[in-house]
Amino acid sequence: LRIMDLDELKRRCLECRDCELCGNRHHVVFGEGNPNAKLMFIGEGPGETEDLTGRPFVGKAGQLFDKMLLAVGLKREEVYIANMVKCRPPKNRDPETQETETCIKYLREQVKLIDPKIIVCLGRISACRLIGADFRVTKHHGQWVDKGKIRFMGTYHPSALLRNPSNKPDAFEDFLKIKDEYGKL
Ligand code: URA
Repeated sequence: LRIMDLDELKRRCLECRDCELCGNRHHVVFGEGNPNAKLMFIGEGPGETEDLTGRPFVGKAGQLFDKMLLAVGLKREEVYIANMVKCRPPKNRDPETQETETCIKYLREQVKLIDPKIIVCLGRISACRLIGADFRVTKHHGQWVDKGKIRFMGTYHPSALLRNPSNKPDAFEDFLKIKDEYGKL
């Protein structure tokens, strides 16, 4: 993809038919937020509510995500929120490698255009692809990894926290670290 502006990238993404996930989608979930965000969150892929609305993290997991942002004093409007794949995998299964690799061109351009200083990977799927294939959330969450000009952290996916609330305190600590690092920018 050639460098363009975010609106043009979004238009291109909205008409994408490069993988089979396009067949079942109601909406492409491109991502949203501050186009100049210093802090970007990257999830896995749209769930049902996201597919129906076209917006990232607006279902049950999204409500928990919003609460965590609020708890550490971050505003949803000041960050940018996107996903590894922009179309919902059937029954919320993990995206397949080929789907992720097909879709990652859009994320790459989003990152180039937004130019965030911090990227937080929500869950294993984005952390393994963006931080390192051996990333384990329980082991590596909350650790900063610098790659080029960007500082990365992986933390628990809010859906995982809904299934396993005992990890919420660890996730909260990660969000405090994120807020602290963000505050230094
Ligand atoms: N889970 C994700 O990974 N992304 C969303 O946008 C919603 C739920």
